Amino acid sequence: MEKTLSIIKPDGVSLGLVGEVVKRFENAGIKISAMKMIHMTKPQAEGFYAVQRERPFFDSLTDFMCSGPAVVMVLTGENVIGKNRELMGATNYKEAAEGTIRRDFATDIEKNVVHGSDSSDSAAFEIGYFFNQLEITG
Ligand code: CMP
Repeated sequence: MEKTLSIIKPDGVSLGLVGEVVKRFENAGIKISAMKMIHMTKPQAEGFYAVQRERPFFDSLTDFMCSGPAVVMVLTGENVIGKNRELMGATNYKEAAEGTIRRDFATDIEKNVVHGSDSSDSAAFEIGYFFNQLEITG
């Protein structure tokens, strides 16, 4: 069983998509092992996206991520890192496959509704960034 971190970003929360995203995960047989709503500070968003520090969009991305509440979740399942990325679709919603979360709801390459870990190393870092062991079931 694999674990991954999912974030419903501030645009997803303000568009009222929390239930829709959770439903897509559950319908795909993915287990939600932890979930909470947070409102990140700028330093917290910068720490989370530290690997993107040199990117030209880093400042805008971290401003966006602390612009409102977000929902962070630990997802558990077989191949859940890849499954979650399939459900999300490509980073750029214009390139995302039909029926994916980003294709259906994203409005911008930055405001793309959801985040998901891209590898087991990043999942370990990202889960530990928001949750301690006592908060994660199963
Ligand atoms: P995410 O999967 O959270 O990983 C990094 C985020 O940076 C990405 O989703 C987008 O929100 C944002 N991002 C990636 N590429 C760009 C880009 N070219 N311009 C603006 N934001 C981007």
